[in-house]
Amino acid sequence: MRDLSGNYEKFHREAERAAQAVKSAKSVLVISHIDADGITAGSIASLTLERLGIEHSTVYEDKITEEVVDSVNSNTDDLVWICDLGSGYFSEFTKEGLLITDHHVPDTRKKSGQTTLDLFSGVYHVNPHRFGIDGSVELSGAGATYMVSKQIDPRNTDLAYLALIGAVGDFQDSEGPGLTGLNRVIVDDAFAAGDVIPEMDLRLFGRETRGLVQFLQYSNDPELPGLSNSSQNCVKFYSDLDIRLAKNGKDRSWNDLSPAEKERAVDKLIDLLGDSDASKRLYGEVYTLPNFDKGTGLRDAKEFATILNSCGRYEDAETGMRICCGDITALKDAERNRAEHRKNISSALTYVKENHLMRERRFIQYFDAGDSIRDTVVGIVAGMLLNTDVAKKGLPMIAFADADDGIKVSARADRSLVNRGLNLSEVMKKAAEFVGGFGGGHSVAAGATIPRDKKEEFLDTVEDLVSCQVI
Ligand code: C5P
Ligand code: ZN
Repeated sequence: MRDLSGNYEKFHREAERAAQAVKSAKSVLVISHIDADGITAGSIASLTLERLGIEHSTVYEDKITEEVVDSVNSNTDDLVWICDLGSGYFSEFTKEGLLITDHHVPDTRKKSGQTTLDLFSGVYHVNPHRFGIDGSVELSGAGATYMVSKQIDPRNTDLAYLALIGAVGDFQDSEGPGLTGLNRVIVDDAFAAGDVIPEMDLRLFGRETRGLVQFLQYSNDPELPGLSNSSQNCVKFYSDLDIRLAKNGKDRSWNDLSPAEKERAVDKLIDLLGDSDASKRLYGEVYTLPNFDKGTGLRDAKEFATILNSCGRYEDAETGMRICCGDITALKDAERNRAEHRKNISSALTYVKENHLMRERRFIQYFDAGDSIRDTVVGIVAGMLLNTDVAKKGLPMIAFADADDGIKVSARADRSLVNRGLNLSEVMKKAAEFVGGFGGGHSVAAGATIPRDKKEEFLDTVEDLVSCQVI
């Protein structure tokens, strides 16, 4: 194994510098991303500042635009703290008093006038990628933010569970049997604080809030042959195992089952999938949040993250942040967002399938949703489609949706392609810049915005780049 200890040490040193900068600031503007990772990151930053008694405000952005760059560069607070965003546009910022806690692939262009003395300037860039640590798997934006928060005050480990939700929200747990790398420190901190119980279980969505039948029926990652999309077969699955679907007239959820019942069901599902990649994805570490009530959806990290995502994608990140900051009454507002989110995602999936929008080229597959799918959810839809039979796992998925400022592009790929050399962040960045747009992200999930008339040229460039990367 590579000895990464030097990298971790360098990463922590940068977090330490950043912690000093935060502590000496009198006023701070926090800017964070609108997804679950961003909302937990923004909440960690805000709670940390509140505990220090530092005047601050928090805003949420879905991406870094020219306006965001301008507002950062002209900001007069002592410090602008950008979470889960910003690394990809690092060279654009001129603000002195800038902290970025992010895990997106950093922009490697030098800032104008940048020198090695930057280490001593008022710019702090806490990103695992900078230190040879894989930010797509080992640490999220909330995780990087948490690392600074913990440096500021070791008592902030009571915020570790938020960083864990951020990592799960970015699917960092699903690359292997559970969270790894620096994320493991976060799991340990959250466990020690009594906020999270890691356990081995099915990694299907809805352990707390879905009825038993829907829990299997709506599973799409992995798909369960014969069970996904068939409520009838799911009912039979449980009755064959002598597991009752309801108790005292109330539907049972997966987490209502006894350990023995769970074991029977898990064994049968693993048999069904055999020794496959799907079976490894099906069963692994999950994270229960014991301090939240049963059935609320806040008791399971994946469900908690989905609630936050559904707030952010509908311009309501603030409601998500209220929940993270302990205001459980905000859950009602979040439920409204969630219901809308669920409806939109499901109709978007149907829309792509029924209108046969999927197109295939030699090295990529793509669809153009036009104005029928919101640009903020098209990436989620693209990711979900990758696990269905309308798509091919072996090809990166590119999705287009109309946006106010051009065409929004979302790109998703199976990790096996990344292992063969694919880096969607680089593809999106280069192809978008080639046609006059901008983009970035992670190796498995990235995005871009391009001018309206450049779709074909963009696709050609994407295909060229992908064909060069993947061996
Ligand atoms: O929007 P979507 O979910 O497809 O974004 C996937 C990833 O790509 C996110 O992490 C997002 O921050 C990043 N992205 C980016 N620049 C863009 C669009 C998306 O860095 N213009
Ligand atoms: Zn993130």
